[in-house]
Order: sequence, then structure tokens, then C-alpha cells
Amino acid sequence: MTATIIAGTGSYVPDRVLTNADLERMVDTSDEWITARTGIRERRIAADDQATSDLAAAAARRALEAAGMAPEEVELVLVATATPDMFFPATACLVQTAIGATNAAAFDLSAACSGFIYGLNVADAYIRSGTYRNVLLIGAETMSRVTDWTDRSTCVLFGDGAGAVVLKAAPGDSRAGAPGILHSRIHSDGAAWDYICVPGGGSRLPPSNDLVEKRLQYLQMRGNETFKVAVRNMERAARAVLDAAGGIKPQDLALVVPHQANMRILNAVAERLELSEGQMFVNLQSYGNTSAASVPLALDEAVRGGRVHSGDLVLFLAFGSGLTWGAALLRWA
Ligand code: UT7
Repeated sequence: MTATIIAGTGSYVPDRVLTNADLERMVDTSDEWITARTGIRERRIAADDQATSDLAAAAARRALEAAGMAPEEVELVLVATATPDMFFPATACLVQTAIGATNAAAFDLSAACSGFIYGLNVADAYIRSGTYRNVLLIGAETMSRVTDWTDRSTCVLFGDGAGAVVLKAAPGDSRAGAPGILHSRIHSDGAAWDYICVPGGGSRLPPSNDLVEKRLQYLQMRGNETFKVAVRNMERAARAVLDAAGGIKPQDLALVVPHQANMRILNAVAERLELSEGQMFVNLQSYGNTSAASVPLALDEAVRGGRVHSGDLVLFLAFGSGLTWGAALLRWA
């Protein structure tokens, strides 16, 4: 039996801080509205010369260091992102060369804010099947590049950052008490593709002056509808993996690390799962919604802050554009 364990975590955020007070000077909003409706106080913004692969590589180096793994040992670099450096090559290839993972295959995974959970699911399948033993999974985004800084309904929400984990094959059966991923489930509903999208710039609406004038190269969101589906689907996904793992109760979880979209969404999910105070890890006040980066960024902060111990059951939850959503349950090594 082989299980997939997290052997090391790392993260990186750009230095530039954009506060709610800064946003008050850019659009018709207030710190009070943003804090009350989202819980976000500040977010990080990539420097002009930083792209997603730069953030990803910095997080990856830290995760490899934490795992005590040389870059040459990595067999697969997987980058979950909705804001790649370019259409092609894959951002994962740019990360591969930046960190010197010369023996790895590399590809990107597009599942927006759920990208890290999708990545865990894919990496676990590779590792359990014996295809790879060492996988580097990174969630990285420069959301600031697809944000419409004149649209107050979206520009207050997002931020830039990256988080990474080193996933390794370990002996043992995680479903019988050994450390590793017990269960993961991923879901999609493409019928609701227009809840959150960047409509222009792809093959449907290639770049043109008209497109830029209409600001279609930027993210658009139906916030209110998204909010309701996010709560419902994250609760369902959580219960599905807990049931699959043999009826583990939410109360048995040492930590829940959710996608950091909105404090009100997280409070609603925590309430539905009847989690106790502090069981859910939250850092969105400092970084906003960093899409695919948010779960591994939060996990790294939790790990480095001493919140995760050997044997702990940790639940990852995410929801995002696609629509996509999913959950993964892991016993910490
Ligand atoms: O990553 C996963 C995907 N995304 C999400 O999870 C986001 C999910 N949605 C949300 O987080 C929330 O829907 C938002 C935070 C985006 C919005 O909160 P809401 O409570 O759903 O507000 P709303 O869209 O219903 O807007 C309420 C009011 C509107 O004014 P009127 O029409 O009632 O006069 C908006 O124009 O708030 C106004 N508003 C703002 N006011 C000040 C919208 N954005 C702002 C703003 N500052 N930044």
C-alpha cells in the first residue's frame, strides 16, 4: 500500500500591501463595507516585473527546503493557476527551469480557486498508482492582472500570492490509520460558467481594441449567486469526503483549511458543519482571495505557526470558477 503525504510546505507573497484605505482612494468604497461584507483588510500585489511563475518558484523553493528534497528529485511539477504567465508554455515549465527540477514533467491545471484541491486529487492518483513518488504541487496567482481596478464589486476581493506542497509516496494505508490523503473529491458544473469568468482575451473573444474598451479582459463575477452556491457546495463536499472516510465527524478534525474567499462564506460553512471556534484556519484578512494560492498559502501559515501535528486530521475545502469545487481529507505525517 502506498499513501500520499505532505512532506513540506512553502509560500510566498509579494511585498506590496494594498489596504482597504488605499482602495477608498481608488473606487467608491469604504473600509467598513469591505470589512463587514468580506473580512478582508489588506491584500498583496505583485511588482510590475513579477509574474505568476516568479511567485510560484519562490513558494516552491521554500516547500522543497521544508521537505529536505533536492529539485532534481521532483518527478512532476503541477501548477494550479487561473493567471498563467502566458497561454503557453505552461507556467509549470517556467517554474521547473527556475527551480532546477530538471528531471520533472510539468503541466498546469486550470480549476480556478479549486485548483489546489484538484491538484491534490491528481497528484494522489499518480502517487497511489506508482507513476510518481515525488510531486511538487503549487497554487499561484497574480489576480491583480485580471482585476478591473475601476469595478468596486470585484477589485476589493482579490490578491496575489503562491503556496506549495511537496507530496511524497509513503508506505502504509491512509484509510487504515497511516498518514496521508484518505479521500479527495472534485466536482464541476460548467452550466454556471458565467458566475465568475474573464470573458475576453481567449479564443472566444481574441484581444482587440473593442474588447479592451469594453474591459472584457478583466474578471467578472455574479457575487451574490456565487456566494450561495459556494456555501452549499463546500458543505456537501466536506460531508462527502468525511462519509467516504468511514463516518469521520467534522468535530474530529484538527483543522479545516478552506479557500479564503469571504469571511461570511467561511462562517456559514463552519456553522453548517457545526465546527467549534478556531477549528477553521482563516488568513483572508491579510491576503484577500488569492484563488488557487489561498489553500496552500493558508496551510503553510498554519504549519509554520504550529497549528498542525502528526496524526491530525486536516480537511481542505475549495470552491471557484467553472464552477468547480472539492474537498480533500488528510492525516498529517
Ligand atoms: O473565489 C470564489 C468565488 N468568489 C466568491 O466566493 C465571492 C462570493 N461573493 C461574495 O463574496 C459577495 O457576494 C460580495 C462580497 C462580492 C458582495 O457582497 P454582497 O453582500 O453579496 O453584496 P451585493 O453584491 O448584494 O451588493 C450590496 C450593495 C450593492 O448596492 P445596492 O445595489 O444595494 O445599492 C452594491 O452596489 O453593495 C454595493 N457594493 C459596494 N459598496 C461599497 C458592491 N461592492 C461594493 C464596495 N463598496 N466595494
